[in-house]
This record gives sequence, structure tokens and C-alpha cells, in this order.
Amino acid sequence: MVTGGAANAGCVRAPSTPDRVAFVGRESEVFRLGAAWGAAVRGRPGLVLIAGEAGIGKTRVAAETVRLAGDTGGTVLSARCQEAERSLLLQPFVEAIGHHAAHLAPDLLRRLAGQRAATLAALVPRVASVLGPVLAAPTSRTLRRRLADEAATGFLCALAEHQPVLLLLDDLHNAGSATVRLLRELTRGAGTRLLVVATVRTAEGDAVLESLADVATRLDLGPLPPAAVTRLVTEAGWAELAGDIRDRTRGHPLFVVETLLDLAAGGTGVPASLEAAVLARLRRVGENTEQVLRAAAVLGVTVDPATLARLVDLPLQQSAGHCEVALSAGLLMPADDGYEFAHDVVREVLYATTPAPIRVVHHARAVELLDHRPEAMAAHAAAVEDWPRAARGWLLAGEEAARHVAVADAQALLAQAVAAAHRAGEVDLAALAEARLREIQDDG
Ligand SMILES: Nc1ncnc2c1ncn2[C@@H]1O[C@H](COP(=O)(O)OP(=O)(O)O)[C@@H](O)[C@H]1O
Ligand SMILES: [Mg+2]
Repeated sequence: MVTGGAANAGCVRAPSTPDRVAFVGRESEVFRLGAAWGAAVRGRPGLVLIAGEAGIGKTRVAAETVRLAGDTGGTVLSARCQEAERSLLLQPFVEAIGHHAAHLAPDLLRRLAGQRAATLAALVPRVASVLGPVLAAPTSRTLRRRLADEAATGFLCALAEHQPVLLLLDDLHNAGSATVRLLRELTRGAGTRLLVVATVRTAEGDAVLESLADVATRLDLGPLPPAAVTRLVTEAGWAELAGDIRDRTRGHPLFVVETLLDLAAGGTGVPASLEAAVLARLRRVGENTEQVLRAAAVLGVTVDPATLARLVDLPLQQSAGHCEVALSAGLLMPADDGYEFAHDVVREVLYATTPAPIRVVHHARAVELLDHRPEAMAAHAAAVEDWPRAARGWLLAGEEAARHVAVADAQALLAQAVAAAHRAGEVDLAALAEARLREIQDDG
């Protein structure tokens, strides 16, 4: 989701926040995305994977496609693939369809869902809340799962009959196998006016990129050309530093943007590294907010104020107050139910520069707070080498995926449970997870 944030922490000049800086360069990429959209509008569906390292501009280029689609009468659905949510069946589809459905009149939604209304409502809670109770015929698990896939694709295809559809999935490297498989299905429907654009981090997304290589067009992003950096820098009012910024950032867009934010907030020179730029801004929010933000960085890219408050043992209002300070410094931005880090890299810098003992305290507390989200809980437990809890979390998450007949995801999660149980020396637990893994392999 592309949302704006404001930066005004002790500014010397009017701040230019990431989303307010003009879009520069990327002409050939935008041309190719425009062509893919044009083809989709004419009934040739497509899947484009925008690949590159963190901060290179994948989400921003994808946002240009969103703009193009919006300007040409398309319907845009978008969602971000969340970390540690592989056990939630088709998480990004559920989110994208849910957001869209929440704004539709019940009659229209019922028409779009068609025969599959009950299945779609079971898959997407927001559809259920618009439609009200829908009766589902009893079926086997395997059939229910196939129907869930069909309900998601059917809904998108029905939407595309009205207007061409752009589905944007950000951070596909986080997605579970069930999601990736469904993307393959989606691109098969010849005649469907649908374009799927997904962003993938190259370092983490090898498997995803490979498994979709035969059905997707891949767009690899490199650094911005020098002229594009000069334009960004000049438009922000720092023309005299253009050469320095070009040399130092080597065209890495996030580094350029962070440099401009630092300068706007009173920085006296071009920061030596992306990390230095982020840390300089962090220091400006004051020590208390910094500590809260460092705790948030342990939780993940999405910041739920209520969980954060409990993590740092502060009243909700106070922790939300710190989030507001971070928001005005452009370190966080508003998100659906709270905040998220302005960029994954901002979170990663905070995480990496937090002293290990403090990280351990936050992870350990997060384990306590997230027992209702076993997969996320397991990741926190693993981070502090609490292998017994990690094993239990992954086992529960694997069971959840197995309940949805998301076989590959269940296998991956159960394999993690087995490994963690062995590390914990919990023989019975390892045997249990191994047995479940075998059962699933036999079923599959
Ligand atoms: N072509 C561009 N023109 C202007 N700003 C850009 C461009 N590409 C990226 N940015 C900015 O750089 C930052 C990082 O880009 P982003 O798209 O979030 O990277 P990624 O998704 O690859 O991690 C964002 O603030 C974004 O607005
Ligand atoms: Mg991104």
C-alpha cells in the first residue's frame, strides 16, 4: 500500500517525504508495464514480477502502474504479503479482495461472488461481513480448498468483466506457496482483463522468481541513472549537493530519499551510508521515542499500537504518542489499523543497530504477546533460540495450513517444527511433527 507520511521534525527546509518526491527515470520499465496493462485491457492477462534489492524502487514503480490503471478506468486491488503469515490461506488475496469488497454494495458483491458466495465469505471475513450469513453445502476439505481457489479467481474474473483489473501484490517473497500457485492459475484465463503486478526482493525471492519464471515477465530494477538522481536532488532544493549525493548513493533511490529527508531535517552534509541517514533521523525523535521504535522494529514492519504498548509496557495513548512523533519524522507511516515503518530498510536498520540484549528482551516478550499467532510467535521464539516454543508455534501453524490443504506450506512449516524440536531436544514433539509431515506427504 502506498501511503503518504509527513516529515517536520525540526525542519530547516520544507521536507520532501518519500512519496512526495517526483517520480523520476524508469522510462523503459514504465513503458513495459504500460504495454502489459494495455494487453490486459485487450483481454490478454499477464503477470509481471518487479525484482530488485530492498529500496531500489520496486514498490514505487508498481505504484506508477496503479496510477496508470486508475487513470485508464481500471479497478485496482492491492495487498502486501506479510512476513510469517504463510499459514493464513491466500493471505494477500484475502486482504486485496477484502479491502475492495468492503466498499461494494451487498447486491453487487453477491453478483460478483456468484455461485461461490459461501466459499468466498468463508475465505474472506470482510466479504462475510458485507454479505451476512451465507449457507455453504458440506464438502470435503480438499474440495473446499479447490473451491477457495476458484472463489478467489472467480471473483477477480467477474470484476474484470466490468472493468479491467490490476492486482498489485507487494513483497511477494513473503508469500506462501498456495498464493504463488494461485498466481499461476490466474494468468491462464485467456480473455480475462487482468494484470497482476508483484514486487519481489531478489535476495529473498529466488524460489518465487524461479517458480513463476515460465508464466511471468520479469522486470529487474537497477540503480537510478545520474540524471534522475540530479532531478530528485534539485527538486528538493539541494542542487549544490547533487554531485556528492550521486556519488555516495550510486543511484540507490532509498538512499537518495533518506539523504534528502536528513538534509531537510537539519542534517549538515550527505550521510555516509543509508544506515547513517536513517540513524541521524532516528536520533532527532528523542530517546524515548527511539526506544519505542526499536521495540517496534522487533515486532515487524506493521506496527499495531496496542501490541506495541504491551511490548514496551506503556499506556496505549503514550505509545501511540511516540508513533505519532515517528510519523511526523517520516520513520513510520499510517497503515490500516495503525502504522508501518516507512520502509522495510528503516526497520532493518533499527533492528540491526539495537543492542542484542535489548532485542532479546523484546523478542521474548513478543513470544508471550503473540500466542494467538503461532507462526509469528515461532519466529520470535526462534530469534531467541527458544526452540521448544518455536517448535510448538510452527507445529500449530503447520496444522493450520494442513487444515486448509495448503500442502506445500504445511510441509514447510512442519519441517521447521521438526528441526526446532530436534534443537530443543524434545523427542516426542519431533516425532509428532514428523508423523504429521508423513501424513501430509501421503495425502498429497
Ligand atoms: N523512480 C523513482 N523516483 C522517485 N523516487 C523513487 C523512485 N524509486 C524509488 N523512489 C523512492 O525511493 C524509496 C524506496 O523505493 P521503494 O519503491 O519503496 O523500494 P523497494 O520497494 O524496492 O524496496 C521510496 O521512498 C520511493 O518513493
Ligand atoms: Mg517495496
